[in-house]
Order: sequence, then structure tokens, then C-alpha cells
Amino acid sequence: MDNRLIIRGGRPLYGDVKISGMKNSALPVIFGTIATGDVCTIKNLPDISDISLALETIEMVGASVRFIDTSTAIIDTRKVMMKSPPLEYVSKMRASTYMLGAMLGRFGRAEVGYPGGCDLGARPINLHLKGFETLGARITYSTSGMITCEAPIGLKGNFVYLDIASVGATINVMLAAVLAEGTTVIENAAREPHIVDMACFLNACGAKISGAGTSMIRIRGVESLHGCTYELAPDMIEAGTYMVAAAATRGRVCVKNIIPKHMESVSTKLREIGIPVEVQDDSITVTGLEGFRGTEIRTNPYPGFPTDMHPQFSALLALSRGVSRVFEGIYPERFRYVPELNKMGANIEVIDGSALINGVETLHGAEVKASDLRAGACLVIAALAADGVTTISSIEYIDRGYEDLVEKLKFLGADIKRV
Ligand code: EPU
Repeated sequence: MDNRLIIRGGRPLYGDVKISGMKNSALPVIFGTIATGDVCTIKNLPDISDISLALETIEMVGASVRFIDTSTAIIDTRKVMMKSPPLEYVSKMRASTYMLGAMLGRFGRAEVGYPGGCDLGARPINLHLKGFETLGARITYSTSGMITCEAPIGLKGNFVYLDIASVGATINVMLAAVLAEGTTVIENAAREPHIVDMACFLNACGAKISGAGTSMIRIRGVESLHGCTYELAPDMIEAGTYMVAAAATRGRVCVKNIIPKHMESVSTKLREIGIPVEVQDDSITVTGLEGFRGTEIRTNPYPGFPTDMHPQFSALLALSRGVSRVFEGIYPERFRYVPELNKMGANIEVIDGSALINGVETLHGAEVKASDLRAGACLVIAALAADGVTTISSIEYIDRGYEDLVEKLKFLGADIKRV
């Protein structure tokens, strides 16, 4: 039987929680170390299963990884070879696609299987590949599911327009372009904090990237990169998840070690429904209250409301006084959490790519199943706020993205255990 979380709800969360490093920049940084062909020390790595898998994947192509404490790894990619990582690794993780950009830049050739990851509906990588082609690479596909990118005489900087401000495509093109000849400009680039973190890491390795965090990124190609010591930014989605959990349980939680600017859309929505949010220099305190209102949310690329906070917010709004609507602008199929929340007494209908949420007084414990990482986080929040006991199965999804979830929640007073 798989691991489960058992949560006895109804206890308000109180206290401080320290937020870990950002999963979605740790992953490209790990794969990005390949482009350096040198030794990098990466600090503030979250201890989650996606990071272990990413590190194992680069070890499969010749990298060596040594932890000097729980969150600091020394990654040596000098002996990495131009070979494809085993399909069973890449098929589990979306971020493995970053090996394409990193290897293409360093070796002029990359071959990686089609990436997997949380099932949120179709997740194509056509824009990553179109970007590589614009830099001069030739792309071929094999019937066995391999994608090969080749640029035998090297990549050449160019103007890359992204049809969608895709996080993955922006990072992958940036990764390939840092070692291209000449200048690349990415127009309609994604502006997420992970893009800025990744650009800062590459610049610390000798790259020349400007404009990260805006929709136009300029990359002046360099001959080679070198190793560096780099500390990852805090995880805005982990922080947002604890902020919402504080509100849903009517507790009071201070999320520490964060960048409050990254949290603006989440803080604004909490305030809008009547939940007090106090912002300090590198922490935010959320105080839950009875009788908060419903609202309307539209998920959008940063600085819009993050799609990765949508399911958690739905759990909160399920307990609001009033009607709410959550429109999903990134993943039209990100509603698999809805039937599970309804099993707990929520009243949510999915209509035309949005969740129509009629607030209820209370949720009750039930047996539910996580369908992906953030759907799992949504069920944890609902279970913490619900009356009675909830059992959540398929928690391997939650382990992909939340460091020490059980310990952190226990410290805040939750009655939670893993069995
Ligand atoms: N898209 C395309 N073509 C592409 C790339 C993307 O059509 O070539 C579409 C996708 O189908 C999707 C949308 O654009 O509908 C967004 O894709 P994007 O490339 O921006 O996302 P990603 O790089 O695949 C990252 C995070 C996700 C997060 C999204 C959006 C990582 C490893 N994953 O995915 O994180 O939801 O950005 O912010 O960085 C999570 O952490 O739970 C998670 C799913």
C-alpha cells in the first residue's frame, strides 16, 4: 500500500515556519550546472523527491554530487558526457527537458526522452524546440520517444519570440543561448521569480544575461562558463501554501525566510476576502478569521495569480461566506482536486474552465486521493480545516514539492501523521 497522510482537522495552526529553497529554480539550476562543465556549490536546495531525482539524473550522465549539509550540494559536471539519461528518469520529471538546453549549449548536441511530470493535461515543449531551432539547432524525433537537438557548428544568437510566456521555454532558451555565438533576445519571456533566480545563477557562472524578470531578456553569448557558489531564492508556492493553511484553519502563522514581493498576488487575494496579512522585511504573518468572503481569481503568468496556488485557494474559498469563481488560465484541466474536495463536503462545480465555489460552513474528514502536487497541497489544507479525520493517498506527489511537510505542520500544531 502506498504512503498516506492521516490528518485530524480542526486545530488552528500557530507559530513560525521557515520556507525552503524554490523547487522550480532549483531544478533548472541543477540541470544548468551541466552547461558550466565545472564545480558548483548550490545552497538552500529543498529536500524533496524532485530534487533527488534531478540529482540522480545528472549523475547518470557523469556528474558527481556531494552534500556538505542537508541543503548544500557540491555538483561537479566536469566529467559529464554527451549521453542521454535513462528514459525512466526523464519520464518522471518535466524539468529534465532542461538537459536539452544545457547539453546543446555545451556539446552542440543533446538527446533526451520526452519529459514527464505532474499530469495537468497536455504540456507540450514545442516552444523550447522552436527556440533551439531559431538559434540554429536541428531537431529530430525518434519513434522510441527521443528528441535530438544538434548544432554541429555551434549555436548562433538570434531573436526568439515566444508565443506563450512559457517558464520552461524561457529557461531552456536562456540555457542554450548563454554559450551561443552573439546575442540572443527573448521576447515575451516569462517573468516568474524562478527565471530571475536562474539568470542570477548563470550570471554567477560567467554568463551575460540582462532583463530577467521583464518580458525581454538579452543574452550575450560567452565562450565558456565556470563554477560558482549560489544560494537559491525561497519557494513562493510553499510560502503561499502555509499562508492559505493559516487562513483556512483560523490560525496565525508567520512564514519566514521569504521575499514578500513574490507573494503580492496571494497576499492581495487574502486581504480581498478579509484575511489580515502583515508584511515584514523577509516574512509575512497571516491571521485567519471566521466569516471571510468569496472572490474571483484568474490564474496568469507572473505577476498574475500563480496557477500553482489555484487548488490551495479553492480549498480556502470552499469555506468562505459567499460564492467564488477560480478561472484557470494556464492548465485547463487543473480541476482534478474538485471531486476530492466535494467528498469532504465542499460545493464546487467545474464550468467552462473555471471552478464555481459555493462556500460551506464546514468540511468533514474523508478518504481522498492526491492527483498531483498542488492538488495534494489543497487536500492537506482542507483536511487541516475539516472536522474529523481525513486520509490522503498518493502522497508521493506531495513529496515532490514540500520539504518536511509533516514536521513543519506538526510544529505549527497540526495533528498529522504519515503511515
Ligand atoms: N506551453 C506550450 N508550449 C511549450 C511550453 C508551454 O504550449 O513549449 C504551454 C503549456 O502547455 C502550459 C503553459 O504553456 O499550458 C505553461 O507552461 P510553462 O512552460 O510556463 O510551464 P512549465 O515550465 O512546464 C513550470 C513549473 C510548473 C508551473 C508552470 C507555470 C517547473 C518544473 N514547473 O512548468 O510547476 O505550474 O511553470 O508557472 O518549473 C508545480 O510546481 O506544481 C508546477 C506544475
